[in-house]
Amino acid sequence: KSVTLIGAPLEEGSGRRGAAMGPAALRIAGVDQTLIDLGYEVADAGDVQVVPARDLPNHPKAHNLRTVGAFTRALEASVYEVAAAGRFPLILGGDHSLSMGSVSGMARHAAQQGRPLFVLWLDAHSDFNTPATSPSGNIHGMPVAFFCGQAEFAEILPRDRAFVDPRNVFQVGIRSVDAPERELIKQHGVNVFDMRSIDEQGVASIIRDILSKVEAANGLLHVSLDVDFLDPDIAPGVGTTVPGGATFREAHLIMEMLCDSGLVSSLDLVELNPFLDDRGKSARVLVELTASLFGRRIFDRPTRAA
Ligand code: ARG
Ligand code: MN
Ligand code: MN
Ligand code: MN
Repeated sequence: KSVTLIGAPLEEGSGRRGAAMGPAALRIAGVDQTLIDLGYEVADAGDVQVVPARDLPNHPKAHNLRTVGAFTRALEASVYEVAAAGRFPLILGGDHSLSMGSVSGMARHAAQQGRPLFVLWLDAHSDFNTPATSPSGNIHGMPVAFFCGQAEFAEILPRDRAFVDPRNVFQVGIRSVDAPERELIKQHGVNVFDMRSIDEQGVASIIRDILSKVEAANGLLHVSLDVDFLDPDIAPGVGTTVPGGATFREAHLIMEMLCDSGLVSSLDLVELNPFLDDRGKSARVLVELTASLFGRRIFDRPTRAA
């Protein structure tokens, strides 16, 4: 019943400007009051501020590594502290490289609880590139490889840190994957539900299966929501739109099912670029989806038998 907002005005992972305005736009769209109205106690930790980490290299194939690395360290620590204090960390992004920090912080928390961390990755992209495979050098295409323990990034966080088992990563909405990235995903056993799976199975069956695995393992579930998971018609405010995304109704149904499960431990809202948005439309959709995840509903459903 207690949520801490953590602003992560990070855009250096994305190869263009604007995502640093994301936390401000989400606050203007009313994320805090929305949660308060749903009965939560809400604290706002403000925006994470960093100076570039000078001990990291200027990597030619991982742009702005020093800035992204500094954000990773700061977010890892603050997300861990918030979760360890029994509160729900809600990270306001910022580009998707911030998940290197948020997921790593939750992985440390989960390890300390002796529970596995699961990740639900709602995105058009798999974000499993490494500096070696990335076509762009933009780190926002690499966070999943990072928190699953790809060695090339090891110097940002301690080498003995908690990693996420790639078989506990569930990606939904995928429709843009680079060729070498596809091989890595297969090799590591990441669970991918692409748009074809959504069309064939429907989101309800996909999410139900994922939630039953988390529940059976007594896991924590981190949700990472990239704006480009959604169809560009409903959420144009993102630098990497891909046609054929999730609909408004699919996205809300996912959030409602996640809420009912009671399994979600933490949430990232990422890749919102207010500079590209249409009169705050995408920021508002993200806040509406957050409301559904935190319990807003049209009518109650009968609760499941325990
Ligand atoms: N796969 C492409 C790359 O590595 C695009 C990644 C887009 N990622 C994102 N978080 N929007 O550059
Ligand atoms: Mn800001
Ligand atoms: Mn992404
Ligand atoms: Mn994406």
